[in-house]
Amino acid sequence: MFENTPTAPPDAIFGLAETFRDDPNPNKINLGIGVYRNEQGHTPVLRAVHLAEQRIWNTESTKSYLPIEGDRTYAEFVQLLLLGDNHPVLQEGRLTTAQTPGGTGAISIAADFLKRLRPDASAWVPDPTWANHKSIFSAVDTPVMTYPYLDSTGCRLAFEQLLEGLARVAPGDIVILHGCCHNPSGVDPDEEQWKAIGALLAEREALPLVDLAYQGFGNGLLEDRRPVEILCDQVPELLICNSFSKNFSLYNERVGALTVLTTSAEAARAVLSQIRISIRVSYSNPPAHGASIVSTILGDSDLRELWQQELSEMRTRILEIRGLFVEELDARGLELAQSTNQVFLEHHGMFSFTGLEPQQINELRKEHGIYMLASSRINFAGLTSETVSPVCDAIASVVNA
Ligand code: LMR
Repeated sequence: MFENTPTAPPDAIFGLAETFRDDPNPNKINLGIGVYRNEQGHTPVLRAVHLAEQRIWNTESTKSYLPIEGDRTYAEFVQLLLLGDNHPVLQEGRLTTAQTPGGTGAISIAADFLKRLRPDASAWVPDPTWANHKSIFSAVDTPVMTYPYLDSTGCRLAFEQLLEGLARVAPGDIVILHGCCHNPSGVDPDEEQWKAIGALLAEREALPLVDLAYQGFGNGLLEDRRPVEILCDQVPELLICNSFSKNFSLYNERVGALTVLTTSAEAARAVLSQIRISIRVSYSNPPAHGASIVSTILGDSDLRELWQQELSEMRTRILEIRGLFVEELDARGLELAQSTNQVFLEHHGMFSFTGLEPQQINELRKEHGIYMLASSRINFAGLTSETVSPVCDAIASVVNA
């Protein structure tokens, strides 16, 4: 049966991570996959997470199944993080949340249940976007369309073109938006631009889906949820797929959630019943441990404070590395991304495009053991204050070759 099975191409992000792992070069540097690393180049377990795990170890009394949609307390914490405790849609019972295995699980379940509810809808993604967005919607046979996002430098928002693109969306179509720290460019709309996007989507009767994978990595926990608040004020229905991989550094625990804003509490209950169907046939019910860590931290003021402090340390380190990178580029007279190096300081989160050409990217990998995505995206959190300079030397050597 499997004799003639064609070999599928490796995943653009995880495939590169595997090639990196197999590279024997002792000086290799991974700027590919979007994982936070500290000054020592490690992805540590957060102190708050360790403390929460100790508590869970002492108190956990069962490993029995969770409900299909996951833990209710966890869902309440997710809603509080997304919208605070006073938001009217919470009081009106218009939100429903299902715990999912990571943000990818949330988007996948959303794609699946939306296909059943709106079989004719298309999904619109920004160009560029995280490659998995297209794959997830294509996997359920939802046509995927793109709307413009960046100008020709790849470093700034093409806002007018973005609005023109969204004006082509049909009523009922799903529009994927990166809530903050756009992956792969780091380019985010500002508050006024979000309001204009929300107004246009409301006028088009589109269904926004906010992918919020980096809350707290941009400007701060509260600041990074502003787009969600703005959209909630403007559109009657909305989906939010959030992940705790990055902001709790819980990558391999697969913790996320799918939250849906509906027009009434009754609709919210009906939507949850549909989401349950998608979850049940996929993985039946979610794993408990990661969500239990998140609930333990968010439910305890000391742990929560510690976590917020650790999150802010991660954000600050990325900003510092961005600053060093720009200094080192400037010192070498290098200008990347057909733009001024200063744009790297305007971007949010871990990623920016370097604008390097495919052969330069290959040379960096082969000659210098420096790995970045084929799109030229780098993860600044993969750099340390010690590696910025040799990386910039290597970039200078391939640019000036
Ligand atoms: C990335 O973009 O590198 C991360 O979000 C990891 C992933 O799942 O692709």
